[in-house]
Amino acid sequence: MLIVTLLAFLSICDGYRVLLFFPIPGKSHSILGEAYIRHLVNAGHEVTYITPIPIKTPPARVRQVDISETAGLLSEELFNIEKLMYKELDLQQISLFEVVLRNFLNGTLHGKAMHKFLHDPKEEYDVVIVEWLYSELGSGLSTVFNCPLIWSTSTEVHSGIISLIGDDLNPSYAINIWDRDFSSPLYRFKNLWTYLENKYNKWTYVEPENLIFEQAYRTAVELRGRRLPSFDEVRFNASIMLGNSHIAAGESYPLPQAYKMIGGYHLKGVMEPLPKDLQKIMDEAKDGVIYFSLGTMLRSSALPEAKKRELLTAFSKLKQTVVWKHETPMSNVPKNVHVLQWAPQQSILAHPNTILFITHGGLLSLYELLDVGVPLIGIPMFGDQFTNINRAVLKGFAKRFDIGEQPVSQLVEYIKEMIENPLYRQRAKEMSLVFHSHVVPPGQELVHWVEHVIKTRGAPHFRSVSMRLHFYQKYYLDLLTFILLLLSTIVYVAIKILKRKTPVDLKKHE
Ligand SMILES: *[C@@H]1O[C@H](CO)[C@@H](O)[C@H](O)[C@H]1NC(C)=O
Ligand SMILES: *[C@@H]1O[C@H](CO)[C@@H](O)[C@H](O)[C@H]1NC(C)=O
Repeated sequence: MLIVTLLAFLSICDGYRVLLFFPIPGKSHSILGEAYIRHLVNAGHEVTYITPIPIKTPPARVRQVDISETAGLLSEELFNIEKLMYKELDLQQISLFEVVLRNFLNGTLHGKAMHKFLHDPKEEYDVVIVEWLYSELGSGLSTVFNCPLIWSTSTEVHSGIISLIGDDLNPSYAINIWDRDFSSPLYRFKNLWTYLENKYNKWTYVEPENLIFEQAYRTAVELRGRRLPSFDEVRFNASIMLGNSHIAAGESYPLPQAYKMIGGYHLKGVMEPLPKDLQKIMDEAKDGVIYFSLGTMLRSSALPEAKKRELLTAFSKLKQTVVWKHETPMSNVPKNVHVLQWAPQQSILAHPNTILFITHGGLLSLYELLDVGVPLIGIPMFGDQFTNINRAVLKGFAKRFDIGEQPVSQLVEYIKEMIENPLYRQRAKEMSLVFHSHVVPPGQELVHWVEHVIKTRGAPHFRSVSMRLHFYQKYYLDLLTFILLLLSTIVYVAIKILKRKTPVDLKKHE
């Protein structure tokens, strides 16, 4: 008992001040941000949370900087479900997204609350954790507070993030996670093109981004008596990257030591109890429950009305009970369908009668189903959802349904096949085993690495050696240039000599 008290005391004394920058106004992003808070506060640290979605009653030792004022810059219209369904809106273009996010971050960093926070000399931190989403502009916080930088990423591994802490991943095998498909044998060539295109785009951003970086941080850094380094010096200087990725959902890539895989850290480990009526419905569903939800960013209530009717008619012919998360009440609902405005998703998935999850394929939902080993039918809409689902299909515990292109009858066929064939459930259970195979839970690992970075003043030992070299050195372009120059000189000289000899030879011949 004494030891426990002593340990608790020590951990409070050891509490560090952590700055958490999670600027994206999306529910799944705030779930990830709040999970950091939970783990760090439980470990005795103080957290300052910069967020557009403040927690209503934050725990002790948490202070919030509310940046909701500028959240409207990332328009909701961007995620219009109907336009996405029929591909009138293409969010798969990274360049478009990058520009939107750059402008959004520029606006955020210039917001009133942010400006005041950055220019308050009383603010001091031991480390800053910055959420990366197609922009590195948040990295300047590490310069303002003169503390180590930790990147937090919300998707599976891809070159855009890995290049910040090590070598780019080779596009011959490392797919672009925004592609709708990567199964074609020609994909390797297409992907090289995408990769080069992204590189080129990035290069065109250098000027506006440097400008934003200067405008946002210069005065705050100079106020603290230091000079502002270049944007490149800062954004490629992170100590580690905490990635919301997991081998059970992603693929095995060669990764730098500074990349720490903590996918699943948002799971609470304790299930909320189900509402009483739902518990009863699910307990009594002897043929099983199918859970249908399109996530938090897109709402299934935004589906076209005709499509919803079609789905309801199709569901009415099933023996199973369907639990549909739909944000508004629905009329004329068949007996075996139960509509919920809000659903405790993890608890529904964990119910022993749940046999199938129909989902948009967001990574958090994927982890929630891997946690309990339930197979899925994915209805991808945007972002990495296509890739997440394609990978689950390859792993054998999923089917993909394109709602804008395939008829609802196809969905019904998939449902029947996945329920009748036990292989899908078995694969889901196997991948669930992989999902739970860790030495310590991901939340504990998160805390460990954050503390490690602070204790070792930036964990320079994790820094990839490849970061020491320039692009041309890594790929021996200097050597190649030298060899090419040498060869062309030899050829040039040889031609000169031959040309001089020729007239002499000719004369001899005469
Ligand atoms: C960033 O935002 C500020 C303030 O709104 C604006 O004056 C500036 O032009 C923006 N910079 C860029 C490069 O968009
Ligand atoms: C890079 O990170 C190290 C370790 O956190 C820090 O000491 C150094 O000041 C940083 N440099 C820049 C330019 O951010």
